[in-house]
Amino acid sequence: MKLIPVTDREALSIRAAEMVAEKVQEQPDSVLGLATGGTPEGTYQQLKKIYDHGEADFSRITTFNLDEYAGMPKDHPQSYHTYMQHKVFQPLQLKPEQVHLPDGSAADLEQECTRYEKRIAETGGIDMQLLGLGENGHIGFNEPGTSFSSRTHVVQLKPSTREANARYFDSIEEVPQQAVTMGIETITDSRAILLLVFGRRKKEALLRLLEGEVDEGFPASVLKKHSNVTVIADEEALTDVS
Ligand code: F6R
Repeated sequence: MKLIPVTDREALSIRAAEMVAEKVQEQPDSVLGLATGGTPEGTYQQLKKIYDHGEADFSRITTFNLDEYAGMPKDHPQSYHTYMQHKVFQPLQLKPEQVHLPDGSAADLEQECTRYEKRIAETGGIDMQLLGLGENGHIGFNEPGTSFSSRTHVVQLKPSTREANARYFDSIEEVPQQAVTMGIETITDSRAILLLVFGRRKKEALLRLLEGEVDEGFPASVLKKHSNVTVIADEEALTDVS
């Protein structure tokens, strides 16, 4: 793993957006894997600036999101579909046929997982996957203990993950119990991975990732086995790293 230390969240967002834009400039039909949550928000704002300045053309990219809550309509204010519409798809003027998220409202979720995997394969696979890091080491919604050979699947969210995400809902009871997520192997099949980590809340997880063992009990550790992973981390997240 290559580590790029930066001062703060702002610097991280600028660096990450530059790397995504560079990838798209060199390969205009790139397939990008995207994440939601607090981590990539600044990166998406920077990508919009790059787009508005005419410095990158996103008209030929294809995107696949990591995950979506289950049992939630696509137009629910807290769905990842809604997040992506507002923060990425509309700002970068991406067309519906360019973008993909798992359909958490599908009647048959198992079939939806198979469909999603097939769609990724049909596009030739993901060129660059953006990831955030869960405090318990999760990537996507792959919680500790998930097999490194997992593909897109339905997960039961851990109480800690529901608590972490409750900040976006009126109450924790409203946070869905299940989600559809790319599996760990779906993620590691990506040709390049960009992991973004900032803030004190992530310092234990980042330390364990950088200095700990590869272990299914800590999903992000699988990234150590991948040949093209870049971690961009800020000073706060790197506090305890030697
Ligand atoms: C988001 C995702 C999650 C988040 C992780 C960190 O699509 O799959 O793994 O990346 O939970 O969340 P934030 O960025 O909110 O700290």
